[in-house]
Amino acid sequence: MNLRSLSGSGAQKPLAVVKQGSPALDVTRVRADFPILQQEVHGKPLVYLDNAATSQKPQRVIEALTHYYTHDNSNIHRGVHLLSERATAAFEGARDKVQRFLNAADRREIVFVRGATEGINLVAQSYARPRLAAGDEILITAMEHHSNIVPWQMLCEQTGAVLKVAPINDAGEVELEEFCRLLGPRTKLVSVVHVSNALGTINPVRDMIRAAHDIGVPVLLDGAQAAPHTAVDVRELDCEFYVLSGHKLYAPTGIGALYGKAELLEAMPPYQGGGDMIRLVTFEHTEYNSLPYKFEAGTPHIAGVIGLGAAIDYVSELGMDAIATHEDALLRYATAAAADIPGIRLVGTARDKAGILSFLLGRVHPHDIGTILDHEGIAIRTGHHCAMPVMQRFNIPATARASFALYNNEDDVDRLIAALHKVIEVFG
Ligand code: ALA
Repeated sequence: MNLRSLSGSGAQKPLAVVKQGSPALDVTRVRADFPILQQEVHGKPLVYLDNAATSQKPQRVIEALTHYYTHDNSNIHRGVHLLSERATAAFEGARDKVQRFLNAADRREIVFVRGATEGINLVAQSYARPRLAAGDEILITAMEHHSNIVPWQMLCEQTGAVLKVAPINDAGEVELEEFCRLLGPRTKLVSVVHVSNALGTINPVRDMIRAAHDIGVPVLLDGAQAAPHTAVDVRELDCEFYVLSGHKLYAPTGIGALYGKAELLEAMPPYQGGGDMIRLVTFEHTEYNSLPYKFEAGTPHIAGVIGLGAAIDYVSELGMDAIATHEDALLRYATAAAADIPGIRLVGTARDKAGILSFLLGRVHPHDIGTILDHEGIAIRTGHHCAMPVMQRFNIPATARASFALYNNEDDVDRLIAALHKVIEVFG
């Protein structure tokens, strides 16, 4: 692949599909859909800016869960009775919604998992492990969440494979030339984050996928932080695997999805054994179920899947382009406002970013920033954000992180900025 075409400025197409002229988000109306936002915290109206840790749930998702437990609660794929039929229809209907949301070619390519973490572990153990020999390589980047580091380290211990890490620059962008240089004959899989939860960087994943495919290497994208903020089209991206977590996408915790190209999933052994993933069991032999059920052992998180379907309906009706446009404008507004705060240092200043403002404020410990903000009614996350190597790269122990969602507005940002001025007052 031509490295110059990757590294030249402007050559990377931003992944956030921010279409000019897409219908604007009516944020006032949207906020009314989230009952949790209507409360006070420490006597102040809640400003929730911890959306990368988990997003809040719209009434529609809450009602989908209540409806399921009130009317349809039953196991799926098993019963001949009406409740089971209704539960199965709702569960499988949600699979169709995820398929459309990701633009997957086939509903068999959507596997329900507990979240992005379980999806990555599944690919590590079921796809990669049987294919790896000692000395083979897995390539990731230096901005990965622990969930896209530790499963590969475990795999390397099991197989003798080697984990390679593409470096990032001071802005928190992957060094693409280095990434391409690290791709080689021993590379068996690339696994990279689509949007960094610690820095907000949107990776140039199209270029990375193209470079990997040029030498026949498959790619997994960790979309936990991307799927809530930007339209994802797995066929257009042409990635082999894509994982997402429902809880960052306005759905319940404990549910997520793995997309995999059908021919790869077909060739993979099951990840776990148990009920529902079989066609026939004897003590001598077990015949596995077809896709995607081969990978869904045990009674699944039925309510969670139904809630995920409701969340996808919700964001799809608002429009992912409208959401991306709104959040992009809000992040720009917040970044400009933060620049005027004395002593602030933004960590993660990539050209293409989504939803994340990570920062340090003078010598104030991020934990103290978070505590003062909490007393102002503002929820942020402080710490390493499950990305300790990112902190090591910037030689810092932690950051304070404001992370945005579709219901945040400029008032939220103004409250954040005012509270940060208060932190400065308190700590001098
Ligand atoms: N990955 C989640 C975060 O970024 C937990 O906070």
